[in-house]
Amino acid sequence: MSELSVKHLLGIKYLTEKDIQLIFETADHFKEVINRSIKKVPSLRDITIANIFFENSTRTKLSFELAEKRLSADVINFSAGQSSVKKGETLIDTVNNILSMKVDMVVMRHPNPGAGIFLSKHVNASIVNAGDGAHEHPTQALLDSYSIREKLGDVSGKNVVIVGDILHSRVALSNIFALKLQGANVKVCGPKTLLPKYVESLGVEVETDLRKALNWCDVANMLRIQNERLDISYFPTTREYTQQFGVNKKLLDSLDKEIVIMHPGPINRGVEITTDVADSKQSIILNQVENGVAIRMAVIYLLASKIK
Ligand code: CP
Repeated sequence: MSELSVKHLLGIKYLTEKDIQLIFETADHFKEVINRSIKKVPSLRDITIANIFFENSTRTKLSFELAEKRLSADVINFSAGQSSVKKGETLIDTVNNILSMKVDMVVMRHPNPGAGIFLSKHVNASIVNAGDGAHEHPTQALLDSYSIREKLGDVSGKNVVIVGDILHSRVALSNIFALKLQGANVKVCGPKTLLPKYVESLGVEVETDLRKALNWCDVANMLRIQNERLDISYFPTTREYTQQFGVNKKLLDSLDKEIVIMHPGPINRGVEITTDVADSKQSIILNQVENGVAIRMAVIYLLASKIK
């Protein structure tokens, strides 16, 4: 039977193309399950999973919890804001205390890049990175590629532009790794101040003219301006950013072809995309959210099969 090459999901960087295809095939099965009248399977009845979130989340937290419950795992949730972390407890002590309650898997979101990698070296459980600072957000990239595959049949050979704050975006980095691994052509587009100097070394091209980027692509993945990570101003005003890098319906309708619009959420409506674009038939934003549950079920199921 096929299995993943890794025992943790720390980043797309550590996966193979075969791993991604296995996750997608498994997600196909779970997508069918969650659309049945009885949406639950008993696969992980003997597994306990802790979701520990040191940073805010809506989609990822709820999606992981739902995925775990659909697989019949026992689930505990931990939010750092109401915990003894506030009293000075270290990450390793916190997680080891949780693990001593016989937890098999930890899903963690943390503001510090590499927090999941660090944890995987110090505790005895399978670790899933649910976003670590500006580093990686692997399940987001998997659900994004899965949504492209669902909409366009394949990821290989497709032209994908990632627009916005590439510098601070874990979604951008994980998407670049995932898309390149599957043979997509990738461009990044945004203000020069929000494009990392090393970005071309990842095999992507830079395009600072949004109209040109959109006319080239099959898919535009519009990123959120992450005000919480912008300690200084990287562009003159939000209005100017929107004029240069925002997508509105007039721009979308004036392109040479019909493109697919994606966004990882949460959306700043009227900044990176307008409401009529977010809610248009070209947008697959809510499909991404739906696919997130199937992808996370697949990831948890495949990792759990390695610890049994
Ligand atoms: N896409 C995403 O990670 O959203 P949340 O921050 O709400 O989890």
